[in-house]
Amino acid sequence: MSIKVRKAVFPVAGLGTRFLPATKANPKEMLPVVDKPLIQYAAEEAVAAGIKELIFVTGRSKRSIEDHFDKAYELEAELEKQQKQQMLDIVRNILPAGVSCIYIRQAEPLGLGHAVLCAKPAIGGEPFAVLLADDLIDGGARGCLAQMVDVYTHYNSGVVAVQPVPATDTDKYGIVEVKAIDSRIAKIHSIVEKPKPAVAPSNLGVVGRYILPPEILDILEQTPRGAGGEIQLTDGIATLLARQQVLAYEFEGTRYDCGSKLGYLQATVELALQHPELQAPFRAYLKARLPAL
Ligand code: UTP
Repeated sequence: MSIKVRKAVFPVAGLGTRFLPATKANPKEMLPVVDKPLIQYAAEEAVAAGIKELIFVTGRSKRSIEDHFDKAYELEAELEKQQKQQMLDIVRNILPAGVSCIYIRQAEPLGLGHAVLCAKPAIGGEPFAVLLADDLIDGGARGCLAQMVDVYTHYNSGVVAVQPVPATDTDKYGIVEVKAIDSRIAKIHSIVEKPKPAVAPSNLGVVGRYILPPEILDILEQTPRGAGGEIQLTDGIATLLARQQVLAYEFEGTRYDCGSKLGYLQATVELALQHPELQAPFRAYLKARLPAL
């Protein structure tokens, strides 16, 4: 029987260079899409998948993430005084009861694999999820991580979210070579970080959602620096594959690469078009604007 996935790691210590200067003093994960920061979308997706403990691996200039998930006494008192109940509920319900947060500092941005390894003391010997908040995934009725928990529970093995990417873009992703075993589910035979299109084993790119067994942490401890001089999670998973099965899951939903400016703008437009207050006026604005483009 599979052990329940209760913990999720949010690596938020990257430099966010593609979004400078916005990310000079503010973390990229606090960039808002419509009215919520990216990190809140990811936290909500994790909580909807049954996660009870959120482990943030933070770095410099990331204090605002801690503040966002903390109680805001003065703001709440002020909203109460002004009888703004709806706003008060929004501020109070950022995290539901029973969900706790842990913050761990990654002293130097030595890569995603290193960031995940920093969470080791908080993970213990259980399987855990990893969510990269700059990959915003609109999974519709059932979020991407909840779908992955179903796959993990059924097969009792690690799961990595994948999607087909343009053949010319393989050098932007971890790329997997797979053998299909069910609809949307495949066994990973090999995984390689950012291969050039000419040598990529497929066009299935890894996106920022993982469910991993605790063994990956011991492996990451032994993983040398790889591409870009960083300790790569992809390299750790490649070693894990020799010891146990890891599955690739083609999730249902749309992923927006909010670490890039274009992806961020696309997410903003699409989520604004779904937003209860904004959808009608924003649609009208876009319709009026489009003919002039
Ligand atoms: P990215 O590759 O998107 O890097 O990291 P980045 O630094 O955030 O952004 P750019 O490329 O410079 O614009 C993928 C994820 O891994 C985290 C990032 O915060 C992001 O969520 N990360 C990366 C760490 O936590 N620590 C690291 O050392 C590197």
